[in-house]
Amino acid sequence: MSGQFSHVLPGEHIYEGVLFFGWTPADTLNAVKDFQIFADDAMLITYPKAGTTWLQEVVWLIMNDGDIAGAKQKQVYFRSPFIEFKDEILNEIGLDLAAQTPRPRVMKTHLPVRLAPTQLWTEKAKMLVLFRNPKDVCVSYYHFYKSSSSFGNYKGSWEEFLEMFKSGHVDHGSWFDFTKSWWDKSDNPNLKIIFYEDMKRDLEESVRDISKFLNKSLAPETIKQIAEHCSFDSMKTNPMTNHLDVYSINAKVSPLLRKGTVGDWKTHFTVMQNDAFDEFYKEAMKAYDIPFQYELDF
Ligand code: A3P
Repeated sequence: MSGQFSHVLPGEHIYEGVLFFGWTPADTLNAVKDFQIFADDAMLITYPKAGTTWLQEVVWLIMNDGDIAGAKQKQVYFRSPFIEFKDEILNEIGLDLAAQTPRPRVMKTHLPVRLAPTQLWTEKAKMLVLFRNPKDVCVSYYHFYKSSSSFGNYKGSWEEFLEMFKSGHVDHGSWFDFTKSWWDKSDNPNLKIIFYEDMKRDLEESVRDISKFLNKSLAPETIKQIAEHCSFDSMKTNPMTNHLDVYSINAKVSPLLRKGTVGDWKTHFTVMQNDAFDEFYKEAMKAYDIPFQYELDF
């Protein structure tokens, strides 16, 4: 699988056919499958760069009745643990943090269904699956690969990265496999599919909709405050969400909150790359009719 690409992720390994960087070791992945889930958990399920951090802040605030003062006291990645992540330098050990987090918990994973905690299904936790169109995901991932030492500060070309992305030779594996695996579960009443582009179009409406799914009834004013607090500009300047404190991300190369738009793919894909991607998508996603949005018309 890796033969055709030269970039090597620090500590990279293959687990059940999926490529991972060293911060998601095999023993953690084994433990994640059996990780204890409770019915009042909210699990955020995203492919990397789909807007995970954004959804973490939104859902944490909904679950905590709009406690903005509380959200300003701790980094988002400590309030809603990334279960399969283990970074001893940051002291961010996802499974330990999740076990210590007071319930109801908000947690995140980037795993496809077959590697996710099995108790998600038996305990009937709430699952929020965030999708973003794959072209913008790929662009965002490319910049993150360049800026982050955890990804080996990628020095290759955009063209090569695009091929890595298409073939699933990136951390956490194929976007296509991840997306199909969760879409197959979309009939489950405890699972909600959310689109990044819908959050971009009307964040207040998304906050209201997600609150309803989580059985949280919030005052209109609280919903408004959450949406304001979670705007791109607000999260970019908020030290609890902007990740400027994270040693592995060189924000001068590219910050985590980079552009936060729909359609930045147009500044990266050539016409030929775009046509080839569309062909590839058609084949890889045949029988899947997922309403991805590649631009916003407003
Ligand atoms: P871009 O690189 O396109 O700017 P993740 O949290 O899954 O790593 O995703 C990061 C992407 O989500 C980045 O996309 C980032 O800018 C975007 N993002 C984070 N917070 C956001 C917000 N409040 N509004 C819009 N986009 C946001």
